[in-house]
Amino acid sequence: SRRFFVGGNWKMNGDNASIAEIVKFLNEGVNDSTSTEVVVAPPALYLKQVVTDVNKNIAVSAQNCYKATKGAFTGEISPEMIKDVGGKWVILGHSERRHKFGEKDELIGEKVGHALSAGIGVIACVGELLSERENGTTSEVVYRQTKAIAGNVSDWNRVVIAYEPVWAIGTGKTATPDQAQEVHDLIRKWLNDNVSSDVANSIRIIYGGSVNAKNCRELATKPDVDGFLVGGASLKPEFIEIINAKS
Ligand code: 13P
Repeated sequence: SRRFFVGGNWKMNGDNASIAEIVKFLNEGVNDSTSTEVVVAPPALYLKQVVTDVNKNIAVSAQNCYKATKGAFTGEISPEMIKDVGGKWVILGHSERRHKFGEKDELIGEKVGHALSAGIGVIACVGELLSERENGTTSEVVYRQTKAIAGNVSDWNRVVIAYEPVWAIGTGKTATPDQAQEVHDLIRKWLNDNVSSDVANSIRIIYGGSVNAKNCRELATKPDVDGFLVGGASLKPEFIEIINAKS
């Protein structure tokens, strides 16, 4: 069975003082009896501090990285650097990277391949725009994005897929449990048909988009929802309730 996975994507939020408060509620709320796999993704500048301060039941992720080990890539960080400071994961293909910074499927695929080869796990994000949902192209978009990722995966055990419909991110407008389930099921079927039944059955497919303490329990009842990627609510103590959505 798939271990429930909850990630907190802090995006470009926090400072020394507020991050100390977040670390405090995380360390109080997550312990040896927490069955959920918990990962938090601070801004890269704070990665090392968070690795040092959070308890060992919580893993730390970066929010992005480049597709090379080192070199003349001003402003970028490599997965080797993330690993070097104790980070275990990187989020790649987040909709904000795709739509605010123009990252395309091909680059995201290359980053996924390089991050896995560097030895960290990847939270790979897919999801349609509102216009694409309204056009009826949700499955086409999600398949295209998943294919670009899958083509670069060397070790599926270190990949989690996050389905984040863009219209649900930061809008307070969450997908209904049935809408999330429908797309998670499509992604799992695509993996079954194009990768293997083992991968389809074992991979965690998590949902992101306005998840909060109020809506998480119902979303978590869906058979193909294996956890969450949480933005705004991951900065607040209610994140602990989301971590415990399934218990
Ligand atoms: P919100 O939870 O703030 O909608 O953000 C979701 C998200 O983008 C997580 O990666």
